[in-house]
Amino acid sequence: MIRPMDALPVFFDLRGRDVLVVGGGAVAERKIDLLLRAGARVTVVAPGLSAALTARRDRGEVEHLARAFQESDVAGRALVVAAADDAAVNAAASRAAQAAGVPVNVVDAPELCTVTFGSIVEREPITVAISSGGRAPVLARLLKARLEHELPAAFGRLAALAGKYRARVKARLPESGVRRAFWEWVMHGPVAEAVFAGREAEAEALLEARLADPAAAPRRGCVYLVGAGPGDPDLMTFRALRILQKADIIFYDRLIPKAVLDLARRDAERFYVGKERSHHCVPQSQINALLIEHARAGRTVVRLKGGDPFIFGRGGEEALALAEAGVDFQVVPGITAASGCAAYAGIPLTHRDLARGVRFLTGHTRDGRVDLDLIGRPHPQETLVFYMALSQLEVICRALVERGLPGDWPAAAIEQGTTARQRVVEATLDTLPAGVQAAGLRSPALLIVGRVARLRARLGWFLDEAEGGTGPVYGHGAG
Ligand SMILES: C[S@@+](CC[C@H](N)C(=O)[O-])C[C@H]1O[C@@H](n2cnc3c(N)ncnc32)[C@H](O)[C@@H]1O
Repeated sequence: MIRPMDALPVFFDLRGRDVLVVGGGAVAERKIDLLLRAGARVTVVAPGLSAALTARRDRGEVEHLARAFQESDVAGRALVVAAADDAAVNAAASRAAQAAGVPVNVVDAPELCTVTFGSIVEREPITVAISSGGRAPVLARLLKARLEHELPAAFGRLAALAGKYRARVKARLPESGVRRAFWEWVMHGPVAEAVFAGREAEAEALLEARLADPAAAPRRGCVYLVGAGPGDPDLMTFRALRILQKADIIFYDRLIPKAVLDLARRDAERFYVGKERSHHCVPQSQINALLIEHARAGRTVVRLKGGDPFIFGRGGEEALALAEAGVDFQVVPGITAASGCAAYAGIPLTHRDLARGVRFLTGHTRDGRVDLDLIGRPHPQETLVFYMALSQLEVICRALVERGLPGDWPAAAIEQGTTARQRVVEATLDTLPAGVQAAGLRSPALLIVGRVARLRARLGWFLDEAEGGTGPVYGHGAG
């Protein structure tokens, strides 16, 4: 059985064709902008014109019939758009157009239309039009907003590249199945990634090489070091999401929430390489070797890391190993724990009057001890953020006081920040260690020291689970 549709989506070539717009006000203006961009020759019939349309008429961009609409105005038009303030005029235009067999759109009156305009997302030469059949225009606009975000701006450049090679590819690969496989390789593989990364010359070189020798070109793998953000999956970037969804294999660690892993393709292999402090599940050298091995086998490898890969994430070491091995890689930044936890705890890291700088420090080094030299002389106008500070909390707080900060200096510890299980202990350098112990905070936790910590009392907006919040839950339970 044929399932009926409200309307057939079609794309209308209006270049050089006559379109009549009835009405000369603000509503007509918006439609005329669109029609002119579509290359139409626009005639406006209306007793008066808005200032913007007057300017268009004076520049010769539209023709103006300065009078009331007449039925005969629709003759010979490719399209009629009725956008007058007067509903009776619009209805008359609709009747006249339909009687003459001319497609007609009446703004905000779907019952008088034979054609409607969709919400449009443009990635030249790609155009997406969305229609709700006039039933839920706000929902259509919401979808448009979502697509605007989800379609990388570079999609248009990729489509333009495909357009440039279309005829050559067709001639070189006459068999349609082979040609389709070629284009799938282009759209999903290194060519698309090179375009998205702004390396168009490289994209063309790859495409040319494959076109010259479609069978022999080896599949080239790539490793993506992807930052998954601090816990809330909504804090991932669109780029991270897109790359995750095309991964063949994903190496992830302890700080990756299950909800993030669930965003990957169902058939992608998932490989836990998580580390606990001083308990390395898979040694770093072995992780590096695995990344290299799978990329060399031509796979799309994602190394998924909590927060940002280049902030206390050993992403730098992995990137160096890949560079040395001659394996292609890209780094996708993520929201680091300091930004995420501070935002969700209501603690601005800088503030014009309270903190003019911020430093990110590690609370433990390779041998598990804190490097006190790193702290130097803390400045009252700076915020200090310590990652991995829990086990050395007392040592750090004491060292900060010894180095000049008052014992009642504000400090906060945040456990599982940005997730439903977020807990925050606010105290001072003197009282924080006992407060954290009493609350039983555990890793992952972040320490923020500075006068900005006091702002939490006024700026804390995020409700954790205990406060009735329904945010995401952290951790996947592996390892
Ligand atoms: C190995 S570091 C990884 C940091 C990560 N690359 C980043 O940019 O956030 C792990 C430490 O980050 C901090 N951390 C990460 N996520 C956190 C969260 N959701 N809440 C509190 N601290 C977090 C903790 O200090 C944890 O011990």
